Amino acid sequence: MVSEEIIQKQKEYLWACVSTYYERPLVVERGQGMYLYDAEGKQYLDYFGGVKVMSIGHGHPKVTAAIMAQLQKVAYTSTLYVNEPQVKLAEKLAQITPGQLKKTYFTNSGTEADETALVLSRLYTGRQEIVALRHAYHGRSMMSMTTAGLSTWKHGGSYVPGVVHAVAPYCYRCPFKLEYPSCNLECAKDVEELIQTTTTGEIAAFIAEPILGAGGYITPPKEYFQEVVAIIRKHGGLFICDEVQTGWGRTSEKWCGIEHWGVKPDIMTFAKGMANGTPIGATITTPEIADAYPKTTFSTFGGNPVSCAAALATIEVIETENLMHNAKVVGNYLRSRLEELKEKYPVIGDVRGMGLMQAMECVAENKAPHPKAALKVLEETKKRGRLIGIAGLYGNVIRISPPLIVTKDQIDELGDALDAAFATI
Ligand SMILES: Cc1ncc(COP(=O)(O)O)c(C=O)c1O
Repeated sequence: MVSEEIIQKQKEYLWACVSTYYERPLVVERGQGMYLYDAEGKQYLDYFGGVKVMSIGHGHPKVTAAIMAQLQKVAYTSTLYVNEPQVKLAEKLAQITPGQLKKTYFTNSGTEADETALVLSRLYTGRQEIVALRHAYHGRSMMSMTTAGLSTWKHGGSYVPGVVHAVAPYCYRCPFKLEYPSCNLECAKDVEELIQTTTTGEIAAFIAEPILGAGGYITPPKEYFQEVVAIIRKHGGLFICDEVQTGWGRTSEKWCGIEHWGVKPDIMTFAKGMANGTPIGATITTPEIADAYPKTTFSTFGGNPVSCAAALATIEVIETENLMHNAKVVGNYLRSRLEELKEKYPVIGDVRGMGLMQAMECVAENKAPHPKAALKVLEETKKRGRLIGIAGLYGNVIRISPPLIVTKDQIDELGDALDAAFATI
């Protein structure tokens, strides 16, 4: 099929809510390393990594080999039997996550990982109420849509009772119109009053991303999580850390984004980049909290040996090729290129992020969100063979999250394309 036919069939047979980037959607045929190729054979450098799923690049030979080897042994077993890749991956997760986290429950996606964490927090504490953040994203089940803090991702008038939303640590648009550090972390301190005034005072959990991904890479002040988590624990709640976007070395030097903020979660969730393109979700916690799950629960594809083998191979590559360090070196370089663009183009109001998770917020006068500018840059960079993403409540944040193998030269290629793209606005 040629591209037009594929696009036509997508419109005809898929739900319209399966929305795509670009005026003319990109039909991807294959990928290798940092590159994607469309159906006409045009090459693109991928600085989005399939929403951070391609941690070590497309078609990594070691991941492909691990998948093939596992497929030749056994493709599926169900969790009613025991399989080696699953237990090896669980053991590895216990080693690379912070604190006393040891036991994992595997699922297929970030949504399920978060849903599992939220249910577990209720089971363990015997309480119902959850504190989440505005501008957060946690998936597309009822509970994860409820905990999301973005109207764009809440559908069908969902909502599980018992969830309240704290203001986000969004310094560029501070909800209290203050400035860090003289703000005295009002956004964190406000969580105490939120609990006292909108809940029974006895909460089950606080769920948050170390950097709010879909919210537009909102990066909190470094003391934010210490302050908030202390308040949460004072009220008997667990801290669920959603590492679906920030995990797997993306924020540089550490496996988990939360390690930069100096707090130890009670439950952590992972998905996306874990298995470099193979569906997987994981919820890890302490043995004591895990044991609060009273009955058997079953995820048909959770912990399937193919995804677990792919995840183990991905971890091995990140370790042996020192890619978390690359995320720091090349991430810093990317950041400096974006800061240069901010000096040149007033439409870039803010540059933020960490490691290879960097964003630019596009604004008009008085910081008014400028989604058209972000869309124009998206289209213009595509014309130049570079792929990036868009995020944020207003759709005005350009997000860049390439595979961790990206080089400085490739960042220069992106920088030049972004420069040319912003010049068209
Ligand atoms: C922080 C975060 N949590 C959860 C999810 C849901 O993951 P999935 O789409 O795999 O269900 C996402 C997806 O983008 C996410 O960014």
